[in-house]
Amino acid sequence: MNGLSPLFVCLGLLFSAMTDANDIEDAKYFSIMGLQSTPDDPSNAFQRDPDAIDLGRKLFFDRGMSASKEIACSTCHFTNNQYIANESIPAGSPRAFRSVMQITGVAYNRFFFWDGRADSLWAQALGPIQNPGEHNLDRLSAVQYVVRNYAAELNKISSTSAKYEGYLKRVKNWNESSNDDPPTTSINFLFSLMGKSLAAFQTSLPVQPSLWDNVARAKIKGTPLDKAQEKIWKGFRIFTGKARCSSCHDGPLFTDFSFHNTAMPTRPELGIEAGRYEVLPQIKSNEFGCYSLYSDASKDECRHLKYVNQSIDENFGSFKTPTLRNVRTKTHFGHASQFSSLQQMIDHYDTAPVGVHGRMLNTRTLSELKPIGLSSSEKESLLEFLKAL
Ligand code: HEC
Ligand code: HEC
Repeated sequence: MNGLSPLFVCLGLLFSAMTDANDIEDAKYFSIMGLQSTPDDPSNAFQRDPDAIDLGRKLFFDRGMSASKEIACSTCHFTNNQYIANESIPAGSPRAFRSVMQITGVAYNRFFFWDGRADSLWAQALGPIQNPGEHNLDRLSAVQYVVRNYAAELNKISSTSAKYEGYLKRVKNWNESSNDDPPTTSINFLFSLMGKSLAAFQTSLPVQPSLWDNVARAKIKGTPLDKAQEKIWKGFRIFTGKARCSSCHDGPLFTDFSFHNTAMPTRPELGIEAGRYEVLPQIKSNEFGCYSLYSDASKDECRHLKYVNQSIDENFGSFKTPTLRNVRTKTHFGHASQFSSLQQMIDHYDTAPVGVHGRMLNTRTLSELKPIGLSSSEKESLLEFLKAL
């Protein structure tokens, strides 16, 4: 034994204690234990209203609220009570190429859809209701449907607001067969209330713990991991380490809620998509935006709009970092369903092609990816981790 070895032993012990502390800290940060409560949305006065949550729940599952009487929000966003993506989207839908986004933890976001064109969860909901490929209802029919079928629920919600009571009365009293113009503003306010109720319901949905959360909990408690859990943990360390996935897929929901250019391949029928950049010119004047008449926020409270990043470099060809929770349940990946397996997604990041969406701007490529160089066993562990989320 030479004289230095006790020092090495001490350093070794210190090092392993430090990695343990890091492991525990990261296990907390990236698991459901690190999740704060849902942020307030000042543009939705009904966000925590139990009666709005109740109406939102009913609307979410109601196939009657569609032109064909066959489409509900839950058709695409619900399977096995987990609010995961169901991608057996009806064929022929104009949005058939857009892959379904997860509802899991959706209330933590500030911008919605792959390109973030809606600036609140309630404004988002008004999109599919009117979309010809989805619920396919015009505004008046949607509002009349709810006034007719959910009178008790609407009365309860609007009884807390003289404003909404007035809108409800005006829509009810308007006689379609008369020559009077429809009360457009009142219709729009009730339409926004439908969105606000759907948002209240989605905000109330808890994030369900996954296999990954069990692994994280075991790590925190110091319980030994079994073989399968070890593999998931190894994948987690590649995700946060060598592969740098967590630079965008950050925190317990595995998203930074931001927009990035990851050089996803294009689809011939779409060509180059400007993505986030395309929706920015209208973002502050959206009909149902935070600055609009139908928002319950003061202008100052719309901070996400006030400070929205509009640079071309950071937004051209960028799309929203999606949550990776429940990603195993998806059958199409990327904003335009470019990939059909998680392996393909991993290979894409590993090779980091420049692709059409990562094209050059002033001699620089806009793609934020760099090749990684993962071994096949590292890819396998990463895949096990993604499947556990
Ligand atoms: C036909 C399938 C379909 C129906 C029906 C549908 N959605 Fe979606 N949903 C999608 C797709 C596809 C996207 C991504 C669309 C895009 O970005 O253009 C999406 C996006 C979303 C998002 C955005 C998530 C995020 O992180 O930005 C929310 C929230 C959502 N839908 C809620 C709803 C609600 C509420 C309804 C009912 C009013 C509904 N959806 C009806 C398929 C559907
Ligand atoms: C520079 C930011 C960034 C990095 C780094 C990153 N991602 Fe992503 N990820 C995104 C964005 C943005 C999208 C959506 C891209 C699109 O559709 O155009 C995405 C999409 C995905 C999807 C598809 C999800 C869905 O719902 O369709 C998976 C899976 C995924 N990423 C996993 C990973 C893994 C694994 C890594 C590390 C190897 C990684 N990401 C690194 C930003 C990033």
